[in-house]
Amino acid sequence: MNSSIFVTLISLSIIGALAFFAAVGFRGSGKTKDVAPNLEPYKSDDELETKHMDKTLSIAVLLASLLTVMIPLYYLGEQNRQEEFVEYFDEVSIERGEHLYEEFGCGNCHGVDGGGGAAPYVEKRSGVSVVWAAPAINNVFYRYDDEEIRYWLVYGRANSPMPAWGLEGGGPMNDGQLSDLLEYLRYFQISQQEELQNIEINVNSAILRIENSTLQVESEIIKQNQLIQDINDAPSKLPIVQEAVLVVSGLIDKETGIDSDEDGLFDSAEIELSTYSASIAESLGTQALNLNPEEEESIPGRKDLSIAKAYLSALQSDEINLGILVEGKEKFLKEASDGLVFLEAALENSLWNVDYQEIADRTFEGDLEKAKRSVGLFNAYCARCHTAGYSAGAAYTKKIASGGLGPALRSGRANIQFKAREDMVDFIINGSVNGKGYGVNGVGGGKMPGFGAVLPESDIGLIVDYLRGMMPDA
Ligand code: HEC
Ligand code: HEC
Repeated sequence: MNSSIFVTLISLSIIGALAFFAAVGFRGSGKTKDVAPNLEPYKSDDELETKHMDKTLSIAVLLASLLTVMIPLYYLGEQNRQEEFVEYFDEVSIERGEHLYEEFGCGNCHGVDGGGGAAPYVEKRSGVSVVWAAPAINNVFYRYDDEEIRYWLVYGRANSPMPAWGLEGGGPMNDGQLSDLLEYLRYFQISQQEELQNIEINVNSAILRIENSTLQVESEIIKQNQLIQDINDAPSKLPIVQEAVLVVSGLIDKETGIDSDEDGLFDSAEIELSTYSASIAESLGTQALNLNPEEEESIPGRKDLSIAKAYLSALQSDEINLGILVEGKEKFLKEASDGLVFLEAALENSLWNVDYQEIADRTFEGDLEKAKRSVGLFNAYCARCHTAGYSAGAAYTKKIASGGLGPALRSGRANIQFKAREDMVDFIINGSVNGKGYGVNGVGGGKMPGFGAVLPESDIGLIVDYLRGMMPDA
């Protein structure tokens, strides 16, 4: 019920009651009395039993019927009022959750809208700096239940960039904050229809990623070689940078001279900064400054003084970084070379390459499309937990389905755990439940998501057939 109707009804009853008492009061006043009110004879029995009783009874009936109407009305209103209250609290909770999402930078990795993103990470086995894929979480409620999601929030995901956020996991948030965050995550889930529409995009980009893996690793090898070169060059660069910091800060802070363009830098300083920065540009791999003493903004939109200050602060941070490299040169060189060996071995074996024709012939009666789709689906939906290192962009030295957070699934392992195909399909539809057994000897940890709401059974069937059809490793 609308609460304003309710308030109106109550106010009307109060006004009515007041009017009634006022009227009764008025009737008694005005008369002059000869005797004191307590000595005045009261109404006769006749009068009391007829007119007076009728009046009292009618008032009682009237009040009783008012109550009969008011109580149900109040009850109806109350229910609604409580729902409104809950709704209000939900809204406030979502708002607080949104605040936490921003404050703790979830969006930096998972995307502002939770659509997925990436985070810099040092690959564990190789020490190579990689970009680690952070999954979409605007669909996480389709895969996990509330408790399971809360678990990931509290403990994060060890051995990945995902930090622990709950106090129990060593993070900053208490239970109430985690609940708010969960409410916000629930609030920004996309519709199931949208999620299903993403399947084709996900599958295609997973297939593209396989095709690009060689290129990716090649470019990482180039970067790694550059890193090794930088470490080797650090001892010769450091003294140049140290001197440059002194010279440039001296020129910026120069105390006398002519400043034609009135930009806070003397003309002579601008000329010297330009020639000096040019003289060290090649050996440091930096840019020369081209400051014009006649122009306040030698680069339109940027004041000369701020260009010079930015140049100085870049030199200062180079000085710090080079110092670190020089200090730990042997250690860094060893790490970087190991990383290079790892990457080169990965490139040589190219284990990410998939022989679709072979899969098609063995499992899908020669149907190449099905073979491709099954691999694309596996990599898009399963590989980040079941193929070691997959989130780093290329799984490097590990074969597909080699096992990571989740067990290895390759080389017929899936057939050992699940005797019947349907049992495996069911398991993937529903995911695992903490403490509940599955398959022949599995015990769920609640960590395997259920895919029944994000993939049609036909696609889950393709993945299952692909896994069950895998040859044992030689
Ligand atoms: C530094 C990057 C980073 C930040 C910050 C971060 N996450 Fe994550 N998160 C990840 C990565 C990476 C994964 C997946 C780990 C893996 O590869 O197994 C993940 C996993 C998750 C998962 C499990 C999703 C799934 O489907 O398995 C949830 C839920 C999640 N994050 C929520 C959050 C929330 C909420 C915040 C902010 C409080 C947050 N994350 C902050 C990187 C991050
Ligand atoms: C977020 C990580 C994650 C993702 C994504 C994931 N799994 Fe799992 N999976 C697990 C974990 C962890 C287990 C072990 C059970 C547990 O701890 O709950 C598991 C168990 C399994 C098992 C049982 C294996 C055995 O031998 O016990 C199968 C089969 C499986 N997953 C298939 C899949 C398929 C197919 C997909 C993709 C559609 C998938 N998983 C996606 C984490 C994941």
